[in-house]
Amino acid sequence: MEEQSLILNNVSKIYTMGEYKVTALDNVNLQIKSGELITLLGPSGAGKTTLLNLLGGIDSPTSGEIKVFGELISTLSPDELADYRKKKVGFVFQFFNLLSSLTALENVEIAIETFGKKEEIRKIALKYLEAVGLGDRLDHLPSELSGGQQQRVTIARALAKEEFAMGNLLILMDEPTGNIDEETGDQILELIKTIAKDYNATFIVVTHNPLLTQKLQSREIHIRNGKIVTDLEKQLKI
Ligand SMILES: Nc1ncnc2c1ncn2[C@@H]1O[C@H](COP(=O)(O)OP(=O)(O)OP(=O)(O)O)[C@@H](O)[C@H]1O
Ligand SMILES: [Mg+2]
Repeated sequence: MEEQSLILNNVSKIYTMGEYKVTALDNVNLQIKSGELITLLGPSGAGKTTLLNLLGGIDSPTSGEIKVFGELISTLSPDELADYRKKKVGFVFQFFNLLSSLTALENVEIAIETFGKKEEIRKIALKYLEAVGLGDRLDHLPSELSGGQQQRVTIARALAKEEFAMGNLLILMDEPTGNIDEETGDQILELIKTIAKDYNATFIVVTHNPLLTQKLQSREIHIRNGKIVTDLEKQLKI
């Protein structure tokens, strides 16, 4: 396996809004290793979610190349991108996008159901719901769960894919512990650390909380105005 699981070469994303252009990402170059834990920090509007969308194959760059686990995803067709997302990406986003008519257990199962037999899928879904502290909420619909509980279902759903991805899993989290109390949040951070270590899954965690870097013992990447801030700029605070 290639050591760098993620390579971005000169990646830009420009949104065109009528006459306006918004440069959300400006020539980003980045390399991330398999199994690395990254915290991505930066002010509101800096380009963090845009970067996650490109890495997750939800959106394509205006220019530049993105390679994930040896696959050039910036040139994939919509069908190929859908397959990439399903097999290799776990999303934990600000808007949880759980299916409202499915229970917590079913919401996790549906993300992995094509990867194995029914009983095996159930076992794995249970394992991860228990790991995020929701073993007693399996049959609740999203509307019967608190915001933080819903968020934990999405975390279980993302992590469950790891059982099938054999190290080739990219987990993208946008403020994963934002709606969760500190103690539960800390448990989830421990789980993230374990999964990164045991399964070599690669995590990118967007946060406004610099404490997360300490708790996750992650590599911190700063973004500002669509650009990665260099270590030198960080030291000089420019
Ligand atoms: N679909 C879109 N169309 C036009 N402009 C967009 C679109 N999505 C994002 N932008 C702009 O791109 C810039 C980066 O947005 P992005 O959502 O990546 O910021 P962010 O760092 O995630 O911020 P926050 O911390 O507030 O979530 C912003 O200026 C935003 O207004
Ligand atoms: Mg955002």
